[in-house]
Amino acid sequence: MSFDKKDLISINDLTKSDIYYFIETAKEFKKISLKDIKKVPTLRGKTVVNLFYEPSTRTRSSFEIAQKRLSADSLNISISQSSVTKGESLKDTILNLESMKPDAFIVRHHESGASYFISKITKASTINAGDGMNEHPTQCLLDIMTIMEEKSDIGSLKVAIIGDIYHSRVARSNIYGLSKLGAEIYLYGPYSLLPRFKDSRNVKIARSMEEAVKNADVIIMLRIQKERASYYFIPSIEEYRNFFKLTPNLLSLASKDVIVLHPGPVNRDVEIAGSIINENKTRILKQVENGVAVRMACLYILLGVQKN
Ligand code: CP
Repeated sequence: MSFDKKDLISINDLTKSDIYYFIETAKEFKKISLKDIKKVPTLRGKTVVNLFYEPSTRTRSSFEIAQKRLSADSLNISISQSSVTKGESLKDTILNLESMKPDAFIVRHHESGASYFISKITKASTINAGDGMNEHPTQCLLDIMTIMEEKSDIGSLKVAIIGDIYHSRVARSNIYGLSKLGAEIYLYGPYSLLPRFKDSRNVKIARSMEEAVKNADVIIMLRIQKERASYYFIPSIEEYRNFFKLTPNLLSLASKDVIVLHPGPVNRDVEIAGSIINENKTRILKQVENGVAVRMACLYILLGVQKN
């Protein structure tokens, strides 16, 4: 199996078999993180630029750890210390960095489409680490990996995605990725934060929390994206908490083997009861662990020896 594309911008860049190839590769790379010496020479001599225009804890650090474990050289651009603060455009920033011959750009940006734009003006591989409200394909891959560690057939699962769907790039990538693998997806959240599309074969809008979580095999909770003005879409956080928080009572309606995912950062006791976070049904830290393996796989597949 191989993957010929230069970039990973959208989960829709991947076929169903591509997704399984990325996950199988990630499973192999996960073994490296469990060793005493967590380093292989696979990407020695490759240079990766981490360009984060928006804050990040998990994605940024896991990409950087992935690069170090694969022996690539990392360049972390601090936007607040860069000439972006003097008004340098995204295009000029990329063209100048491109002159230093990097092999990849890892890009997080507040504007939807920024990673796609960059991929068209650089010869280097571009990986979308989250662009505005659009997509977060590596989060989708690590979510799929986390689900597949416990559920053998994604095509037989009911997955509930609950919260601020409208502003969520994680929701969008997971809707594309999980429906491609055949999961039945139920979306729920404040009406103002639900996407405006009709039910399709795989994706349905639930009418209540109870309908969304009933017999669900996987529940993905999302936070209110206040940096994207979500607070204007709901009357108050108190009201949100009352109607859209995952509580132990609601969780008891799900399948007995349900697992609960959340991309982070979590607002405890807003979208999810604190007691659930500490419970054995939650896989939030497993998602973070798998994030390193998935990002190693993405770097290997896009930059690795098979491309030389
Ligand atoms: N899941 C996620 O993208 O988290 P960060 O914003 O911390 O990277």
